[in-house]
Amino acid sequence: MKRIMITGALGQIGTELTMKLREIYGTDNVLATDLRRPEEGSAILAGPFEELDVTDAERMDQIAAEFKPDTLMHMAALLSATAEKNPVFAWNLNMGGLLNALEVARKYQLQFFTPSSIGAFGPNTPKDNTPQTTIQRPTTMYGVNKVSGELLCDYYFHRFGVDTRGVRFPGLISHVKEPGGGTTDYAVEIYFKAVREGKYTSYIGKDTFMDMMFMDDAIDAIIKLMEAPAENLKDRNAFNVTAMSIDPEMVAASIRKHMPDFELDYDVDPVRQAIAESWPNSIDASEAKAQWGFSPKFDLDTMTEEMLEAIKKK
Ligand SMILES: NC(=O)c1ccc[n+]([C@@H]2O[C@H](COP(=O)([O-])OP(=O)(O)OC[C@H]3O[C@@H](n4cnc5c(N)ncnc54)[C@H](O)[C@@H]3O)[C@@H](O)[C@H]2O)c1
Repeated sequence: MKRIMITGALGQIGTELTMKLREIYGTDNVLATDLRRPEEGSAILAGPFEELDVTDAERMDQIAAEFKPDTLMHMAALLSATAEKNPVFAWNLNMGGLLNALEVARKYQLQFFTPSSIGAFGPNTPKDNTPQTTIQRPTTMYGVNKVSGELLCDYYFHRFGVDTRGVRFPGLISHVKEPGGGTTDYAVEIYFKAVREGKYTSYIGKDTFMDMMFMDDAIDAIIKLMEAPAENLKDRNAFNVTAMSIDPEMVAASIRKHMPDFELDYDVDPVRQAIAESWPNSIDASEAKAQWGFSPKFDLDTMTEEMLEAIKKK
């Protein structure tokens, strides 16, 4: 992985991924693309950037032909809560964009990464310590897209030999770029509200457990998986990864270690709550650990410390 093209590079993951990859592989070797150009002065514009709508197959092909990457990282997607508001649009973007990206990877023989999600599981998936290979019958459009995407990536690997790799990300927590409309966004908002207002009203109910991970660990996971020798990978699309299984009360308790007066109350959003309840409480990441050395560094308390400190600086 030396010359990398990224779609959806201005998103919550893409922003930090682009910066980290440029640090490792060189600024000029990492092409960021997104639907629209970022504001002048944005750090992303310190390196190559192209406007690209991933549903435009011709333009994606043309950009790849010009940049000549060896790796394509496909991040552009509509997330769970937003996808539920406009399912047909979500299908066309999530599946159409992925198919276009896989076709580019096939044509130019690129290594390929795209994230799946804990949203690829459903209500009849075993809820605790959810295994790598298990029942996947999600009931959300996002979940349907993610399972179909996992299968499509596996298909391109088996049928065309494209080196497709992926992870099932849990909720990702970061302070650089705001999240893009997922069900786990509460776990980011809670830190910003804690610092700015000393209180937070959660749209996800008490005792609703979901997996989470700090963004630094998510980026490290992508890089580690992409650098792993192919012969070590028995699975491909996609690996369970997680660092913690938490509910809003646990985040609040962790915040109170630094801000004892922090207040948490609830105004549950039925749509996002239903999505959360259809997902696992905790997933088993042992295959990612065994096959390519996944090892997250942040637990809830170290992440809380990092989040509060960074947000206070802002
Ligand atoms: N953030 C999380 O907690 C999380 C968890 C699990 C999986 N994922 C997956 O990771 C990937 C990236 O997620 P994210 O959190 O960075 O999302 P995000 O919503 O923050 O960013 C998505 C980016 O895609 C861009 N985009 C939207 N439509 C586009 C189009 N037609 N063409 C080109 N770009 C377009 C948006 O402008 C945005 O910059 C997605 O596949 C998502 O499902 C994210």
